Amino acid sequence: MLRTHTCGELRMEDCGKRVQLAGWLQRSRDLGGMTFVDLRDRYGITQLVFNMDINAELCEKARKLSREYVLQVEGVVSERSSKNKNLPTGDIEILVDGITVLNPSKTPPFTIEDNTDGGEELRMKYRYLDLRRNCVKKNLELRHRLSILIRNYMNDLGFMEIETPYLIRSTPEGARDFVVPSRVNPNEFYALPQSPQTFKQLLMVSGYDRYFQIVRCFRDEDLRADRQPEFTQVDCEMSFVEQEDVLQTFEGLIKYLFKQVKGLQLEDFPRMTYADAMRYYGSDKPDTRFGMRFVELDDIVKGNGFAVFDSAELVVGICAEGCANYTRKQLDELTDFVKRPQVGASGLVYIKYNEDGTFKSSVDKFFTADKLKAVAERFKASPGDLMLVMAGKREKTQTSLSCLRLEMGSRLGLRDPFNYSPLWVVDFPLLEWDEETGRYYAKHHPFTSPKPEDYPKLFTSPGEVRANAYDLVVNGTEIGGGSIRIHDRKMQNDMFKALGFSEEEAQEQFGFLLGAFEYGAPPHGGLAFGFDRMCSMFAGVETIRDFIAFPKNNKARDVMSESPSPISEAQLEELNIALIHKEQ
Ligand code: AMO
Repeated sequence: MLRTHTCGELRMEDCGKRVQLAGWLQRSRDLGGMTFVDLRDRYGITQLVFNMDINAELCEKARKLSREYVLQVEGVVSERSSKNKNLPTGDIEILVDGITVLNPSKTPPFTIEDNTDGGEELRMKYRYLDLRRNCVKKNLELRHRLSILIRNYMNDLGFMEIETPYLIRSTPEGARDFVVPSRVNPNEFYALPQSPQTFKQLLMVSGYDRYFQIVRCFRDEDLRADRQPEFTQVDCEMSFVEQEDVLQTFEGLIKYLFKQVKGLQLEDFPRMTYADAMRYYGSDKPDTRFGMRFVELDDIVKGNGFAVFDSAELVVGICAEGCANYTRKQLDELTDFVKRPQVGASGLVYIKYNEDGTFKSSVDKFFTADKLKAVAERFKASPGDLMLVMAGKREKTQTSLSCLRLEMGSRLGLRDPFNYSPLWVVDFPLLEWDEETGRYYAKHHPFTSPKPEDYPKLFTSPGEVRANAYDLVVNGTEIGGGSIRIHDRKMQNDMFKALGFSEEEAQEQFGFLLGAFEYGAPPHGGLAFGFDRMCSMFAGVETIRDFIAFPKNNKARDVMSESPSPISEAQLEELNIALIHKEQ
């Protein structure tokens, strides 16, 4: 060992000990007679002292060292005269009497400190340096800790971690696959798994009745703060269970993690149907840290000559408490916000309920004070409140108003990242109509079972069939989701039929699974948590990138290793895809 202790370890009680430390030079300060050096490793920072009067040669040597040099030092632990309360090792320092430069370093392109001067792209390019920073390291430590806690908890409940393949068959359902050409099977491709869904179901057929895996998944989809092309799931499946069993088991896991990591004892998670989530929050992942629930107004406001309302499928609004004093400028800002392409609304109607009980609205000429009073009553508004109303196509309006609701929540400081509000969203629709392709798609995936009472509607009104599917939502983020699966061959056939698959197409794509289901598939169900999202949730951060050691940027690129990258003609030819490449 090149060291006797780490840089985060030594305390007052170690004073007088002879020690060896190794690490990186964080910073040095030259005070004439004395030179101080902060030595950093994964565990912390320890102050080194070089004294001109005691050893001038060594002190000179120390002065020549630069940031990020790798050093090994030897010396005696001693009490500091001016202590640093912010460092766990802040009571002591090392009186150094020997130093070895293990490796010099170029000057790093940004400072390795929490408040670094490096921009995002630069830090991504030099990710190995960014990872030296304490705040990034803490994120990875949290991730590690969570993975250990999860593994222990699952193991205690009898879950077995089983690995499933990364080179699998491509299926057209779901997001886009990343594909991998097979050299030994010309013109054939594997796909990287979007999730181990089919394999975990096969494991249930095999009798491994409690499976889990902390597993990498790959999806070629557009990136956002909470999405990466490769991300990690805590993937779980159980046999001989109903929905309630799955919810209870994994609510237990999440509560356990909150207790261990945050010291919080969470109450039982509320449940909300998908229909209510859409109706009251305009989103299937409602942020329930604050109220501001949607209020529908059609019956009150239609038929008053305001064409925008009269022609709308839905007129719906929110009430922002105490915001009646919003200025023209603030209201214009909100209107601009909803008109942004990401929000997509054509406009916004406001109704101020003034402190004196009068109303001021952007639609005054269409509505009498009595009408506006009726609207205010529907909102349960009080003088001083601001009502914000939107109208248009039902789903579109709900989605836009949901963005506005979140924006108002942020403006009013109602979205504290450490105020955790988990809930289960249940009863998702089984199928989702896609205008573009003119067919139904599985909202979750094609193996999700319908609610028994809705099954008869599969061919008469498919859009109304609810699924045994559920999501865990925390503070407006979908942390996990799953379902009770179909284990009955006929029901699975019906499902494929409803999705527009012919018998042959279903056989071709999922034949192996359907075949397996003929050999005694037990009733089963499960879910998967987004592990990166879980980490960022515990840290109170929105982007998952900080919790991945080597993430991709928002163009799905690794700017450090410069991937993806072209490959040589020879490599392409070997893979038999040279022709395809040339044609493009
Ligand atoms: P689903 O597609 O809902 O379900 O994914 C489960 C969870 O994974 C996380 N997640 C992501 N995290 C980061 N980047 C992404 N691109 C990304 N996509 C998804 C989310 C999500 O809730 N096989 C099913 C689960 C099941 O039915 O058991 C599945 O993959 O937190």
